[in-house]
Amino acid sequence: MRVLLLGAPGSGKGTQGVRIAERYDAEHLSTGDVLRQEVEEDSAIGQEAYPYMQAGDLVPDELIMSIIRKRLTDPDAPQGYVIDGFPRTVPQAKEAYEIADGVGLTLDAAVCLELEHDELIRRLDDRGQAHGRVDDAAEVVRHRIEVYETQTLPLLEYYAGRGILIEIDAIGAVDEVTERIFAALDVVGSSG
Ligand code: AP5
Repeated sequence: MRVLLLGAPGSGKGTQGVRIAERYDAEHLSTGDVLRQEVEEDSAIGQEAYPYMQAGDLVPDELIMSIIRKRLTDPDAPQGYVIDGFPRTVPQAKEAYEIADGVGLTLDAAVCLELEHDELIRRLDDRGQAHGRVDDAAEVVRHRIEVYETQTLPLLEYYAGRGILIEIDAIGAVDEVTERIFAALDVVGSSG
C-alpha cells in the first residue's frame, strides 16, 4: 500500500501515519520529522530549513525534493510507504509523481484528514504546552494553518483529478479516526 497523508497542522497525520504503516506493513516517512532530525543534528539541511520551520513557513521545494528523491530512488526503497506532510505544494506533488512513476511506486491513495480550526488550535496548544515544539506557539500555529490553506489545499483538487483522494472526518478519538481510515483503505487494498 502506498499512501500520502494530507491535512492541516494538528489534524493527526503523524499519529495516524504510524498506525497505517503498521497495519499495511509499509514504511512511515514524515518530512517534518526528517527535518526536525536534521535541525537537531545541525546539518546543512537543518541549518537551511530551521528559519522557515520556526516561522511556520514551508521550506523550499528543492530542499524537500532532494530528501524525497533520495528515498524513492534508493534501490532498497520499500514497496509500501506512508508519507505524512509531503507534498505541501502542487509543484512538489507533480515532481514526486514523475519520480515515483519512474520507479514504479506511484500512489494508491491520498488521504486527507479534515478538522475544524478550533480543534486544530486546541490540539497544538496542548502539545505546545506538553512538549514545547518551537512552531506550536499560538501565532505560528495560526500562520501554519494559513500556509496550509493557501499552498497545500489546492492539492486536494490535484488528487481528486487523479481519482485517489479519500477525505476522512478527523474529529473524535484517535481510535475512531483510525477505524475510518482503515475502512477506506481496506476498500482500496481489496480493489487493487
Ligand atoms: P510537520 O511536522 O509536517 O507539521 P504539520 O503539518 O504542521 O503537522 P503537525 O506535526 O503539527 O500535526 P499532525 O497533522 O502530524 O498531527 P499530530 O499527529 O502530530 O511540518 C513541520 C514544518 O516542517 C512545516 O511547517 C514546514 O516548515 C516543514 N515541512 C515539512 N514538510 C514539508 C514539505 N513537504 N514542504 C515544505 N516544508 C515542509 O497531532 C497533533 C497533536 O494532536 C498531537 O499532540 C497528537 O497527540 C494530538 N492528536 C492527534 N489525533 C488526535 C485526536 N483524534 N484527538 C485528540 N488529540 C489528537
